[in-house]
Amino acid sequence: MHRAAVRAEGAASVQAACDEGATGRRRGSRSCPEQDQTLRFHEVSRSFGRGSRRRAVLCGLSLELPPGSAVYIGGSNGAGKTTLLRIAAGMLAPDEGEVTLGPLHPRRDWLRFHQRIGFASAGDRGLYARLSVRAHLDFWTAIALMSARERARAIRAALIGFGLAHLADRRADRLSQGQRQRLRLALAFVHKPQVVLLDEPRNSLDEDGLAMLGAAVGELLSRSGAVLWCAPLGERQPVDFDRTLRLEDGRLWPA
Ligand SMILES: Nc1ncnc2c1ncn2[C@@H]1O[C@H](COP(=O)(O)OP(=O)(O)O)[C@@H](O)[C@H]1O
Ligand SMILES: [Mg+2]
Repeated sequence: MHRAAVRAEGAASVQAACDEGATGRRRGSRSCPEQDQTLRFHEVSRSFGRGSRRRAVLCGLSLELPPGSAVYIGGSNGAGKTTLLRIAAGMLAPDEGEVTLGPLHPRRDWLRFHQRIGFASAGDRGLYARLSVRAHLDFWTAIALMSARERARAIRAALIGFGLAHLADRRADRLSQGQRQRLRLALAFVHKPQVVLLDEPRNSLDEDGLAMLGAAVGELLSRSGAVLWCAPLGERQPVDFDRTLRLEDGRLWPA
């Protein structure tokens, strides 16, 4: 019953989102996109392990994130939050069901799907020790196939937006943990994705860093992007979420 409610709540059509706003309170200045840009989980199931040790982590989970929506998913350690985000990012295939971004599928439409997704994974991985902050941003925007002019502008904005301008030429292995987290977040936003996936993004951030993350999410929502934020319940967050859900027993419930 809860699952159906969650699905129904998230089932606003893109046209409705364009006409009156997915949340009724955030309007981007960008014109309405021509195509559907809703991130959808369709009855997603995922288990790990073999034989008698096989354990279901996600059980037929459905969710929709229309443009302009901010969704928080809480849950205890091991609830399946990271699994859900890795599936949304196209890094892990579900056993059953699928994730789509409008008409795009993470495997069938690999490039276009990944251009539109930003993902900050939990922990401290994903940086190249010897690459500078600027080189990371340059590399990411190149992979996203942004034009040279867009790249220069986006990199400048990310450096300023995450307080990294004075560290632009510093190697990643010479950054503090919090500075590394700012860079990892900057990489999730720099290519102006449609959907940003955040896994415990507060990790090591100071108050300024948290405010910068809040501002980046605000900018994303103002241009009709969407954010999916996963972390344990109860943390103070710098974002006013449209929906707060709880992941438990492989399903989403109202928090
Ligand atoms: N690659 C994997 N192989 C086996 N088990 C895994 C794997 N990834 C996650 N799990 C298990 O799935 C469950 C959910 O993990 P995870 O999605 O990381 O939870 P959360 O992010 O909510 O803490 C845990 O019990 C974890 O041990
Ligand atoms: Mg996790």
